Amino acid sequence: MDFSFLLEFYYWEIFLKGLSMTLLLAVMAVVLGTLLGFIPAFMRIGKNKVLNFVATAYVELIRGTPLLVQVLLIYSFVKIPTMVFIGIELSSFIPGMLALLINSSAYVSEVIRGGILSVDKGQREAGLSLGLSEQKTLRLIILPQAIKNIIPQLGNEFVTIIKETSIFMYLGIAELMYSAQIIRSQTYQVKEAYIVVAVLYFALTFPTSRLMSYFEKRLKRSDEK
Ligand code: ARG
Repeated sequence: MDFSFLLEFYYWEIFLKGLSMTLLLAVMAVVLGTLLGFIPAFMRIGKNKVLNFVATAYVELIRGTPLLVQVLLIYSFVKIPTMVFIGIELSSFIPGMLALLINSSAYVSEVIRGGILSVDKGQREAGLSLGLSEQKTLRLIILPQAIKNIIPQLGNEFVTIIKETSIFMYLGIAELMYSAQIIRSQTYQVKEAYIVVAVLYFALTFPTSRLMSYFEKRLKRSDEK
């Protein structure tokens, strides 16, 4: 094996650019996906049957189909028509990002819903018996406790999304996996390029998981006090 390309700054630059694109995609998808995820989560918790059905269908359809299919579908719905009808060559980043955040929103909405439902029933009853409205009870009593269950799982979602961004190579978005493609075609060090990329993915995901379990422990400890 020959890792000599690692001695050249030029190749590092390619990897680092890929790494930052991967991070940008993952952070944006999880942040926006979380915001969007509150909508189906509340729709499913509420009592309106129609909203409930729509949200359940959304979550199940997205979780039941591969991300790659969703990405290519949204890509062909957004990118190709804007090119043909409006004449603008939209960067693949937009449809890619859109697909990723929609996908993440479905997974996160279940995390949010689970977090809310796992708060003890007595908390809601206590809020209501204090004279708070249903909404205020949710906002002031249930959500602050639910957040403790939600945050660590958002960390897991971030780790998953970091890895999932690797499929954006197919759209030609210059993320980490794409940088491996560039390097293997320039240096012919195929195995080595993939090994470096694997190490870099791990360098992103491992500290994140560690940080999350640390937070999880601290949140639990503050609960026990
Ligand atoms: N690779 C899987 C799929 O294509 C997992 C997607 C996970 N997505 C998520 N937001 N956690 O369905």
